[in-house]
Amino acid sequence: MATNEQGYFTEENSAEVVIGRMADSTDPRIRQIMDVLTRKLHEAVKEIEPTQEEWFKAIMFLTETGHKSDEWRQEFILLSDVMGVSMLVDAINSRRPNGASENTVLGPFHVADAPELEMGANICLDDKGEPMFVHGRILDTEGNPLEGVKIDVWQANDEGFYDVQQKGIQPDFNLRGVFRTGADGRYFFKAIKPKFYPIPEDGPVGELMNALGRHCMRPAHFHYIISKDGFDTLTTHIFDPDDPYIHSDAVFGVKESLMAEFKPVDDQQAAAEHGFSGRFFDVEYDFVLARDD
Ligand code: BEZ
Ligand code: FE
Repeated sequence: MATNEQGYFTEENSAEVVIGRMADSTDPRIRQIMDVLTRKLHEAVKEIEPTQEEWFKAIMFLTETGHKSDEWRQEFILLSDVMGVSMLVDAINSRRPNGASENTVLGPFHVADAPELEMGANICLDDKGEPMFVHGRILDTEGNPLEGVKIDVWQANDEGFYDVQQKGIQPDFNLRGVFRTGADGRYFFKAIKPKFYPIPEDGPVGELMNALGRHCMRPAHFHYIISKDGFDTLTTHIFDPDDPYIHSDAVFGVKESLMAEFKPVDDQQAAAEHGFSGRFFDVEYDFVLARDD
């Protein structure tokens, strides 16, 4: 028997036989990955003891997940999101020093070519929703303001849809913008108070969530990608702590440190200063970037 042959396959030695066949792989990383996956998968199958029908159902679930995916929709990423794997991979790849802002999931609705806007601009192009003033500073871990930071922001509208989900209904680039900080590290812009919304639920992942008695909702949030040369790019959200789904985000994206107060302001003069006609929400949040070394 060659070194990569471990004898005939049996129920007992199944994983060892399969792993033995990988002994001649010249790619150590793929060998390590497939070694771990084979051991864990065989262990799971031995614990579950699926019937042939159940195994076929699992194969069909993955087949449908592939069929549901296209240029605009990635059902496998959604599956990874609702299983907490996206957040786990993100956590492993964004370990940062104490005090630096935390990452969370990117999500599928970022667009790369959002317009660069003047600081203070309103990203809401359709005048719908409750007005909100968002502001704060971008700092390094020593508390110094950072100049020339790119702040890419996007959010869903008042009905819980991103512009790319409602082409022809919402204006293009509604509720998106890119801002750059000056020497004081400050950022500020106008937007609308976000609302909770469901992740796409009309595919196999939605069906799975149903079968598990889980809802598909994400608590109200807005997204950021904050970047500057020499610093670790921060991909994150700000959440409304009063949202009804804050403790049960379908994709596990909520972190304690990413909640900000959404403060209602009834002051007419403050409203006029921001160009609002009445009551608005004020959200203040400072981001701290870690150096990428
Ligand atoms: C989002 O927040 O845009 C999102 C994240 C993960 C899955 C679906 C949507
Ligand atoms: Fe989102």
